[in-house]
Amino acid sequence: MTQEALQKFEINQLLEAIYFRYGYDFRNYAAASLHRRILSRVALSGLSCVAELTANILHDSEVFGLFLKDMSITVTEMFRDPSVFKEIREQVCCHLETYPRINIWHAGCATGEEAYSMAILLQEEGLLERCQIYATDYNNHSLAIAKKGIYPAQQIKRDTKNYLASGAKASFADYYSAKYDSAKMDESLKKNITFANHNLMKDQAFAQMHLILCRNVLIYFDSDLKNKVLDVFNQSLIHRCFLVLGDKETLDFSQVQGSFDVFNRKQKIYRKINVI
Ligand SMILES: C[S@@+](CC[C@H](N)C(=O)[O-])C[C@H]1O[C@@H](n2cnc3c(N)ncnc32)[C@H](O)[C@@H]1O
Repeated sequence: MTQEALQKFEINQLLEAIYFRYGYDFRNYAAASLHRRILSRVALSGLSCVAELTANILHDSEVFGLFLKDMSITVTEMFRDPSVFKEIREQVCCHLETYPRINIWHAGCATGEEAYSMAILLQEEGLLERCQIYATDYNNHSLAIAKKGIYPAQQIKRDTKNYLASGAKASFADYYSAKYDSAKMDESLKKNITFANHNLMKDQAFAQMHLILCRNVLIYFDSDLKNKVLDVFNQSLIHRCFLVLGDKETLDFSQVQGSFDVFNRKQKIYRKINVI
């Protein structure tokens, strides 16, 4: 057996062990980046092989906590891809405002910037008061940062630029207070956001959603898991409501493709078809 084949076997065993012990199913994550991150954890921990990591994870839930942190790529920004927020502001909000109550789900919210951006946008469009934003992730470490809403001050310049490009109606400085080297998001934005742990691999759908954003998450999944998660979104959405994916993600060739119209192909905005 080659070294490479042995490593692959050990990685498969690790993923089985994690599923058996903790119920997290990484067997459907895209292999290349998953394997790279596992091998990097093995090296950083000074271990000689993946099997040693498996033993440590099986017997120590704290090691598993670190593993989870490693596995989740939490890169995000305020108003990331500003043109998407501009499109939501200019073309989607007019549909949302026809509902007396609006439910929004950010699946894979990382450290929360996307949810705060949405709260700012909705506030400026006069909709925040009737919105409930659910912002979920399976990484508790990221969720803790999201709940605090405190970010490094050096992000502010980039975030302000994004905000302005998103069709801003005020000044970004109105939404945070700067202190030393950090910026704290305004408490009023948090009122309508619920941050919660939710694992797309196994947890239930949220019901009656008007808008779901799951951006830059599906790229880490293989096509089986992608289809499973898209099916959950399809079940969660009310008819004629909206799904927004990341720049490199698409509904094309997925099992739910026939249940959605393309609302804006460039911005990856889809609209659930009305089933009569
Ligand atoms: C690159 S971030 C994207 C953040 C944000 N949506 C954005 O586009 O800026 C990907 C997030 O997906 C989360 N994620 C990955 N697998 C997940 C799963 N099975 N369930 C829930 N969240 C998951 C990661 O923890 C990470 O925070």
